[in-house]
Amino acid sequence: MNGNSVKQQLAAANPLFWHNPALMPCSPAADAELEAAAARLERCAPLLAELFPELASDGGLIESPLLELPTLQRLLGISGRLLLKADHALPIAGSVKARGGFHEVLCHAEQLALSAGLLHDTDDDYRRLASDEARRLFAGHSLVVASTGNLGLSIGMIGATLGFRTRVHMSNDAKEWKKQRLRDRGVEVIEHDSDYSAAVAAGRAAAIEDPKGYFVDDENSPRLFFGYAVAALRLQRQLASAGIRVDSDHPLLVYIPCGVGGAPGGICYGLRRLFGDAVHCYFAEPVAAPSVLLGLLDPSVPSVYDIGLDCCTEADGLAVGRASEWVCETIRSDVDGVFTVSDESLFRDLFQLYRSENLAVEPSAAAGIQGPARLMHELSAKQGPAHLHDRMEQATHIVWSTGGRLVPDNEFEKFLKRGKTASKEIN
Ligand SMILES: Cc1ncc(COP(=O)(O)O)c(C=O)c1O
Repeated sequence: MNGNSVKQQLAAANPLFWHNPALMPCSPAADAELEAAAARLERCAPLLAELFPELASDGGLIESPLLELPTLQRLLGISGRLLLKADHALPIAGSVKARGGFHEVLCHAEQLALSAGLLHDTDDDYRRLASDEARRLFAGHSLVVASTGNLGLSIGMIGATLGFRTRVHMSNDAKEWKKQRLRDRGVEVIEHDSDYSAAVAAGRAAAIEDPKGYFVDDENSPRLFFGYAVAALRLQRQLASAGIRVDSDHPLLVYIPCGVGGAPGGICYGLRRLFGDAVHCYFAEPVAAPSVLLGLLDPSVPSVYDIGLDCCTEADGLAVGRASEWVCETIRSDVDGVFTVSDESLFRDLFQLYRSENLAVEPSAAAGIQGPARLMHELSAKQGPAHLHDRMEQATHIVWSTGGRLVPDNEFEKFLKRGKTASKEIN
């Protein structure tokens, strides 16, 4: 399929599976920025354990388990091994946004504390950032972010807990319960009757007005990106301790829900630095908001409105009209492909995951679930990397579930109801 026919398919909101023609070979290599982000999260772990007592048992590391999905695997007929990277269960922020969001705020707090002499150097005791003196320092500074919900929850939780004045600009897709949760934490929520890109622009403009304001720019943030990328190092450890081999004969296939591109982009970047060509990353986007697919197709990064889509989806975390140009550029040669999913299939998959494995995720986080079956279908139609075809029995599939822990029970009941209906209507 050439670029124009892909755009036509996208414009018709037909689910499609796109294989990236710009994918380049890649060998594992050390990456200074990835390692710096991992080191920062590690030296801040005692601070996080002090700020959030529920992290104490894990020494302040925010991490999620890697789970087997035996029942779902049988149900879907997936060859190889099917696993779930359970970021829906990440503590405190309840989504994949935790690592990136916490990393960016900790970078900023660290810089302020070093300049104020509150920390002497990066070997100092970071628990000083939880002191009254640090809170007084941070209270003089504001943090501003725009969010469809989950990035706001991440920045809001760490920002307000450290004592920053924290403001979250929210797009019209943001769910009420996410706004309320932030307000309960003392975060100021500014509601916009516009989409995500407009909320980002409003947040950016407001932050510029404030000389002590710091804007977390989801469309253009290496600090978020490398924080997300740390997940790759953690996953590498989990795979090794589960005795799972990853090499050219034992490929690792990863399926990650995608909005503006930062979280899946960072994870993909990290995995490719660690595993090179043995890993294949696929992003999952709603049919109404395939922003990163468009951005990878066309370096001018058009918005989904430019091809006649409306960006309306129940997958609030993925409701992004225009991708991050910086992320698209950074991962253009690393991502294997993108597939798009209808809203009804998201609810069906959410329901199936709950019924088969008793795991509760939010609609955005269910976008990767159909990845393994969709890829197997592509390979049997001779699409995608040819060498994968006869290695599927030895493959490890990882579906990345990116959010859900904080969803209130009554909201989840509604998802299940819709998923039950969808699973009867579509197979
Ligand atoms: C649950 C969930 N999954 C995936 C994503 C996608 O992350 P990104 O927008 O960085 O691509 C988001 C974004 O908010 C999200 O909330």
